[in-house]
Amino acid sequence: MVVAAGSGSRLGASVPKAFVPLAGVPLLGHALRGALSCPAVSEAVVVAPAAHCAEAQSLAEDVCRELGSAATVTVVVGGAQRGDSVAAGLAELGDDIDIVLVHDAARCLTPVQVFDRVVAAVRAGAPAVVPGTAVVDTVKQVDGDGHVVATPDRSTLRAVQTPQGFRRDVLERAHAVSSAATDDAGLVERLGERVLVVDGDPRALKITTPADLEAAARLLPAHP
Ligand code: CTP
Ligand code: MG
Repeated sequence: MVVAAGSGSRLGASVPKAFVPLAGVPLLGHALRGALSCPAVSEAVVVAPAAHCAEAQSLAEDVCRELGSAATVTVVVGGAQRGDSVAAGLAELGDDIDIVLVHDAARCLTPVQVFDRVVAAVRAGAPAVVPGTAVVDTVKQVDGDGHVVATPDRSTLRAVQTPQGFRRDVLERAHAVSSAATDDAGLVERLGERVLVVDGDPRALKITTPADLEAAARLLPAHP
């Protein structure tokens, strides 16, 4: 599933973030190209803003045609928070699906190898898998006044990305309790299930601000 129903308030474009062009293609189109290049992906559920469902459907059909993918595509309307959008997408999954990848359209340049690694780890038995990268900055935990209360050992920290992969039953149980979290693995952790981190990729950066969009443009092969 690709969640693309956010407004992109920090990007500040005139259209929702997933529909902002990068080298002439909306971010959602790039994200779907990565996801549908993964041979394990047999069904794509796109969660979109109500006003952009038709555009999402035609983008997904274009990508399927371009890649020669036989994946089925469904588009559903998202909710107020990211977790609500994931829950809406989960409700649309076909009966035959037993592994679910949840991907942010905003991480539109995630290489297919990351999808492959996540799927492989779930197939190998992990109930929940997230891609992550080492943290280069020293991270401080602070209190409400901005005073440092702890400095976690950096070598134990990972910055996590999407796609996050789950056994379907585990993700559904997690969302049945609550959909409120910044990532789906966080919900699964609350169930007490183990979450495995596999190697992420710097190209899976999340486009949040205009500077991120410029950084993503520089990653494209055709960049002048
Ligand atoms: N998302 C969603 N439904 C929401 C909120 C977010 O599907 N109600 C999706 C976004 O489209 C994005 C991903 O979740 O692909 C990560 O969210 P974020 O980067 O925060 O995107 P936005 O919420 O659109 O951006 P902002 O927070 O700046 O408004
Ligand atoms: Mg947001």
